[in-house]
Amino acid sequence: MVEAAAPARADVVIRGGTVIDGSGAPRFRADVAVNGDRIVALGDLGRTAGTREIDATARIVAPGFIDVHTHDDRALLSRPDMAMKASQGVTTVIVGNCGVSLAPLAAARPIPPPMDLLGDAHWYRFPTVAAYVRALEEAPPAVNAGFLVGHSTLRVGAMDDVGRAARQPEIAVMQERLREGMAAGAIGFSTGLFYGPNRAAPTDEVVALAEVAAAAGGLYVTHMRDEHDGVEQSLDETFAIGRRAKLPVVISHHKCAGAKNFGRTRQTLKRIDEARRRQDVGLDVYPYAAGSTVLLANLLDEGIKVLITWSKTAPAEAGRYLADIARDWGISERAAADRLQPAGAVYFMMDEDDVRRVLSYPDAMIGSDGLPHDEKPHPRLWGTFPRVLGHYARTLGLFSLEEAVRKMTGLSARRFGLLDRGAVTGGAFADLVVFDPDRIADTATYDDPIRPAAGIDCVIANGEPVWVDGHSTGTRPGRVLRRRG
Ligand code: ZN
Ligand code: CU
Repeated sequence: MVEAAAPARADVVIRGGTVIDGSGAPRFRADVAVNGDRIVALGDLGRTAGTREIDATARIVAPGFIDVHTHDDRALLSRPDMAMKASQGVTTVIVGNCGVSLAPLAAARPIPPPMDLLGDAHWYRFPTVAAYVRALEEAPPAVNAGFLVGHSTLRVGAMDDVGRAARQPEIAVMQERLREGMAAGAIGFSTGLFYGPNRAAPTDEVVALAEVAAAAGGLYVTHMRDEHDGVEQSLDETFAIGRRAKLPVVISHHKCAGAKNFGRTRQTLKRIDEARRRQDVGLDVYPYAAGSTVLLANLLDEGIKVLITWSKTAPAEAGRYLADIARDWGISERAAADRLQPAGAVYFMMDEDDVRRVLSYPDAMIGSDGLPHDEKPHPRLWGTFPRVLGHYARTLGLFSLEEAVRKMTGLSARRFGLLDRGAVTGGAFADLVVFDPDRIADTATYDDPIRPAAGIDCVIANGEPVWVDGHSTGTRPGRVLRRRG
């Protein structure tokens, strides 16, 4: 345990709590003192007076959680209190996942799915990543944000038709824009090779861009081409991209989707283990057996339940099952899906045992993949982190609370190069969450998804409380976190 010299005064003293420091190490009793935006002392601080005192008796004091997989690019601007994340104890989000980033793209034309998850063309108004970063810094949100540059966004900006491979001059344009993004501090480059605007990109095109990210010390983060029957080939493609472009890869929301593939995470995790002997591979996962994205015909074939999260043409159907809507309308599910477009959905397409196996994988980070602009969002938007701590760690005993916290703090900060974050230690940034280990729980459900977690007392970002006793404080101390080489 670190015990820095106790100061006589501090801005904040969190007293009487038990610290889980984010490294995976066992918990220990310690008061925590904060001055400005940093943790300045840990230990018995009986002689330190805090301008603000927080009683953490019978509580855990942990690093603020890092949501490594988000689509909060626009929410940071349009909902700067970030209540859906701050309420869970999240103090940092990584945006720009799945090939979709708000920048760099100044779009005059309709935005194709799934990019419309972030908003319509009106929201795509940042011709450079630097312009997006400037907007965030001028109107900061409650939490910190690191960002990735998305391949679909680059393709829509550089190509007249995203339904084909990019030609050399288009690749050059995308490389130049990605270079600008990396110079503006992007942590890496993301793809969503499963999706329409990204699918026609061959591996070589991805490598040509990943090399630009690599040259700037960045990561390659991917929603792979296939998470269904071809998941192992997709893993191989991902590893090949990492090796050819010489950069670390992160596999997004790892899963084996579709009833035929239930149980296959036994093989995929083994394959990831093998690859890790040769190269740097990370992954993230959300703690639910259902996924969510735009409504896509090719995800309807599996005989799985589909819940509509939003629809532009039939907004009243949000929150209802596609099968029920189809029955009411007297048409097939496929026809009903067509009529609902553009729309979003939750797909019950995973095996719970697979979800647990991936969650338990030592190098798996927690990422919500929440969709903040959906009418009836997947409950992961409000529930991910408390669900891992409450349901999976405490109730099911899948892993210790220390391990659960490490998967959402220390591990993630190291992987994404977030300097002095994700740790409760002297000198680190004061991103902190105080929670009740006996009560922490997700309360958001598929039926009632917009509900803050239980058991979170206080959330502090850069030394300032942003969420206290169930409410946003209105303070917005979030910062843009740039990649540190
Ligand atoms: Zn994705
Ligand atoms: Cu995603």
